[in-house]
Amino acid sequence: MASSAAVLISGGGTNLQALIDAVHDGRLHLDLEVVVSNNAKAKGLLRAREAGIPTECITAAASADRTDYRTDYDRALLETLSRYRPGLVLLAGFMRILTPAFVKHYEGRILNIHPSLLPRFPGLNTHQRALDAGDRWHGCTVHFVTEQLDGGPRIIQGRVPVLANDTAGRLAERVLAVEHRIYPQAAALVASGRVQYRGGSAWHDGQRLDEPLQQDGGGAAP
Ligand code: GRF
Repeated sequence: MASSAAVLISGGGTNLQALIDAVHDGRLHLDLEVVVSNNAKAKGLLRAREAGIPTECITAAASADRTDYRTDYDRALLETLSRYRPGLVLLAGFMRILTPAFVKHYEGRILNIHPSLLPRFPGLNTHQRALDAGDRWHGCTVHFVTEQLDGGPRIIQGRVPVLANDTAGRLAERVLAVEHRIYPQAAALVASGRVQYRGGSAWHDGQRLDEPLQQDGGGAAP
């Protein structure tokens, strides 16, 4: 069970907006305590301010020649978050890889949304990769964050059909619309305790989720 969350962003923040809207509509019972960005120009910071949510910006000290720059960043992130004590940490387009120490600190309480049907296409450029692979279905996944990049236990997926003559941009738009549905749902399931992280797996109502829950994005099969 969790009653509060921090949302970490880097960019447009449309998933953040979906979370804010779900809280306002009563679909998600979470106090969004703080929005943290690693990018001072992230449009999502404006969305947070408009919603009255405190914001913090932690830019990377970014001397890439220092081997511990990731550790330093995550230490600063932990310090900032410790002032808010969020129950959950929701990564919403946060374009940094977190250190094992950070992940350990919030083990079982960090969620991420990823624009592919994991385990297909971890990492970047997922829409183009789905097109290049000739996949008939694409989509998005909310998962618990572990040390393995985009590899933690999956909670819920939303699928969209890949259409003839699709472009990465058009596909991304349709996937994003589904992201906005499944992220608030997943956050609500974890906040209520119905979905939990235990022993390296996701559990739903006491059953281990070997396959993620499904939310279809609509549209006929291609
Ligand atoms: C989304 O596609 C999300 O899945 C990915 O980055 C994008 C962020 O979009 N990790 P937004 O900032 O929420 O609009």
